[in-house]
Amino acid sequence: MPIVIFRKEDGSIAALIDRCPHRWAPLSMGEVEGDRIVCGYHGMAFDETGRCINVPSQRHTPSAIQVGAFAAIERYGFIWLWGGERADADPSLIPEELAFLDNPSWHSVWGYKSVKGNYMQIKENVLDLTHFAYLHAKSLKVADWTDAPEVEVTDRFIKYKQEFKMSPLAAVYADPAGKEVGKPINRTSWGCYYSPSVNIGAVDMHDPNPEPNGLERFALRVIHLTTPVSPLATHYFWVWARDHGEPYDVDAYRAYVSSVFDEDVTMIEATAALCQRAPDQEKAREYSVAADRAAVEARRRVADLVQRERVAAA
Ligand code: FES
Ligand SMILES: [Fe+2]
Repeated sequence: MPIVIFRKEDGSIAALIDRCPHRWAPLSMGEVEGDRIVCGYHGMAFDETGRCINVPSQRHTPSAIQVGAFAAIERYGFIWLWGGERADADPSLIPEELAFLDNPSWHSVWGYKSVKGNYMQIKENVLDLTHFAYLHAKSLKVADWTDAPEVEVTDRFIKYKQEFKMSPLAAVYADPAGKEVGKPINRTSWGCYYSPSVNIGAVDMHDPNPEPNGLERFALRVIHLTTPVSPLATHYFWVWARDHGEPYDVDAYRAYVSSVFDEDVTMIEATAALCQRAPDQEKAREYSVAADRAAVEARRRVADLVQRERVAAA
């Protein structure tokens, strides 16, 4: 369902279904006036709760005229919507692991991709990074991820973790840190699935033999946020951040990171297209392996959520 998002006078966020309940004009084609949005077709006005507060062509405003509204807040540079009842919205569920985005000592590049694929494909893609050595063989050149990672499952997250002991440093990590490509250092790669919309990836690096004035510890974070558009379309927002390596050419770095994610998107879209046209899709199956454990847990978690919603709605 398309959503219209607007700022109220105090700067806070309002989010409504982008469909005027009068004749279904997109409210996003209207105008924001103070704390309300006015439909661009016949001028009905709606507040942040979705209540119609003015029908210009008559004096009486029927209370039945309502548009769906979402609880919305802005945090860490993103707008977060709560898909359920507004009163149940719980901002504490926004992972505080993203708080580094407010920390000026971290340098980040941000990007967006429109993906012709399901949001869970993007989740699963970033929960199994054994694809580095193949899909990103020519770009990332991180060739040492050859084993399935450890996986930890809690109520709050699904986490993978992989330790690389004194492993040669790929250029993607070495160059921003001013290290020699191929230098053996310790690296911990971990990542978390927090919800169907939020994943974070992390690389914490430790060089036990730093150069004079060189970095001993340095880190990288990658955020993957997904907003479903339809079963086969997703808004994909990403951030790639590091706590070292300023100054750098931000535009060139963003273009480089974006080109890496293009490799993921190309593969995700190809698999989504194949799923659609496979004539044997009723009986064909996927085979999961140990490296898929985090992704399979995420699938299970989403299936549980869907089931709970169905039961609650019944
Ligand atoms: S469609 Fe919005 S006021 Fe008529
Ligand atoms: Fe990837």
